[in-house]
Amino acid sequence: MDFAGVECEIPDPGDYFTLAIGPTPILVLRDQTGAIQAFFNTCRHRGSKICLAEKGAVRRLVCPYHQWTYDLTGQLVHTGRMHEEFERTAYALRRVNVRTTGGTIYICLAGEPPDFDVYGPLIEPYLVPHGLGNAKLAHETHVVVKGNWKLVMENSRECFHCPARHHELMQTFLHDYNFEEPGNDQVVHSFWEKCSSLGLVSENREGDDFRIIRLPLRKGAVSSTMDGKSAVSRRLGTMPTNDAGSVRWVHFPSTFNHAFADYAVLVRMLPLGPQETLF
Ligand code: FES
Ligand SMILES: [Fe+2]
Repeated sequence: MDFAGVECEIPDPGDYFTLAIGPTPILVLRDQTGAIQAFFNTCRHRGSKICLAEKGAVRRLVCPYHQWTYDLTGQLVHTGRMHEEFERTAYALRRVNVRTTGGTIYICLAGEPPDFDVYGPLIEPYLVPHGLGNAKLAHETHVVVKGNWKLVMENSRECFHCPARHHELMQTFLHDYNFEEPGNDQVVHSFWEKCSSLGLVSENREGDDFRIIRLPLRKGAVSSTMDGKSAVSRRLGTMPTNDAGSVRWVHFPSTFNHAFADYAVLVRMLPLGPQETLF
């Protein structure tokens, strides 16, 4: 499944955001019960896009073309000028598979989505203290990369170039630790013991398409900033300490992330086409 966004982007019923995977427009919203729903952002009448904005809030989904109207569960509730026998129930919005974990939202266009029951529950306890579902979105930026999304993702995974190319990151980023066996790294091991005593899950876990770990920052730093001090005075969620390093998690092929005690950076990669990626 692919990372789509964060629950704090759509805090209230009717809030939505849109995205596209290749040519396919998708709509993610919060319904009246507070649940997250995802649909193809395509009207069942003549195929118009329904929500045209990147983000917004609606009571109902009204197609801008002939104003067919859907409720927040995708049911078709109003059609102008259709004959009496028209079966509205047969024209609900097409659903997109959606799952959430720790305040993050994943979608899948396939009819049968890949298993999420290992990755989702496994990362949840790492993320919950950071409260991403109730955080505030401080900044969002988009970059179009002229490259295939899997190459862009692969490039993000090798950090051999980081010391030469990412001077700001390297102010606080722990780079030279035992990547293969972090539990055998003395600095990491004692950091994990301290985190564990505060109720923070830290150990590295990985599967075929993911890895998650909590790691310390460089000595003396509590956040990823130029001086290593917190960027935000208030901690995220229920974080018990500023000195919590960062949870780093990656899920192929669409996301890599860092959550600190005071803020988080979440990166989403969407294929616009075979040779173009929205980063
Ligand atoms: S295309 Fe949506 S109402 Fe006609
Ligand atoms: Fe890089």
